[in-house]
Amino acid sequence: MFSSLDELSAADKELAKAAIAAQKTSYAPYSKFNVGAALLMGNGEIVPGSNQENAASPSGLCAERTAMFAAAVRYPGVPMKALAITGGHKMSICDEPATPCGGCRQVMAEYQKLAGGPISVLLIGARQIWKFARIDDLLPFIFTSLD
Ligand code: THU
Repeated sequence: MFSSLDELSAADKELAKAAIAAQKTSYAPYSKFNVGAALLMGNGEIVPGSNQENAASPSGLCAERTAMFAAAVRYPGVPMKALAITGGHKMSICDEPATPCGGCRQVMAEYQKLAGGPISVLLIGARQIWKFARIDDLLPFIFTSLD
């Protein structure tokens, strides 16, 4: 656990700042909960994501999946390495980090499997920053029964 961005490695700090910047692109007029994500790819590129809501609510999508799906299209076959996430009401950042929903964790798990190595997760709150080494730490007993 960390308490400020300055305690992070240079790479994690850059990714965290990209997630904070991505939050500004969030479109969340219904929940007013704005989430930003940034995904580091194996080729060094950072792909941003933010939650995008819709009046027909199931048609919206979380920030994490927006980033992962965009990255899968933009850089097919390139492994995902690290994901930073931040969020809060009305463009704020929650003191304690917002944590990814179950659906996003399942999607992360599948891309981690495709990556063949761990995807780390950085959850950025205003007062606390939590780092997880791999998706398994957020989602035990991952569903892989179609294998
Ligand atoms: N949201 C995310 O973007 N990521 C999550 O992991 C949890 C929830 C978004 C979805 C919706 O736009 C808003 O936060 C409130 O649920």
